[in-house]
Amino acid sequence: MLQTMYRRRSIRKYAAEPLTPEQTRQILAAALLAPTSHNRKPCRFIAVSDRDTLTKMAAAKESGAKFLGEAPLAVVVTADESVSDIWVEDAAIAAAYIQLAAESIGLNSCWSQIRRRPHRGEGEQTEWAEDYLRQLLGLAPPIRILAVVAIGRAIAPKQPRREEDLPWEHVSYYTSIFKK
Ligand SMILES: Cc1cc2nc3c(=O)[nH]c(=O)nc-3n(C[C@H](O)[C@H](O)[C@H](O)COP(=O)(O)O)c2cc1C
Repeated sequence: MLQTMYRRRSIRKYAAEPLTPEQTRQILAAALLAPTSHNRKPCRFIAVSDRDTLTKMAAAKESGAKFLGEAPLAVVVTADESVSDIWVEDAAIAAAYIQLAAESIGLNSCWSQIRRRPHRGEGEQTEWAEDYLRQLLGLAPPIRILAVVAIGRAIAPKQPRREEDLPWEHVSYYTSIFKK
């Protein structure tokens, strides 16, 4: 599992080949295996491989979503906010599980953030990416959209992370050796 974590990098250019039904099933199984607070399971996942819909999803934001238009598969990570007040955490864990599962079966992925991101405009005039996608996919409140995870095989794989890339200065230890 740790090796999978070192290897996982955000990939935004994908080969055209579709995923097999078994690859898609394994990725969705990982999403369903993710832990949720109080085991409430507020998340709902939408697997999109329809090219026309993916092209429209790529326009959800002015930047940071274009790669959805080239991906063979995108998983829309949504949650019913009436089921859990901390659906964001549950949905984020599920999205991370999806990315690690993809990597573990030789595929690549990238997260596109949807929640709190503008579709266009700013300030009072902001139209939200979440509303744009909800309309496109026929979803209504209380369903919320956290992110879309694109999945496919990299055209140009990236180097895995190395031990020296890790920001160990972000970690501190509080152990009994600090006690007088
Ligand atoms: C919460 C979250 C939101 C992200 N949103 C986007 C996004 O909207 N578009 C994008 O291209 N990448 C997005 N990413 C990918 C990050 O840019 C990427 O994980 C980071 O640069 C580290 O690179 P790595 O994934 O290759 O280690 C997001 C990642 C996370 C965890």
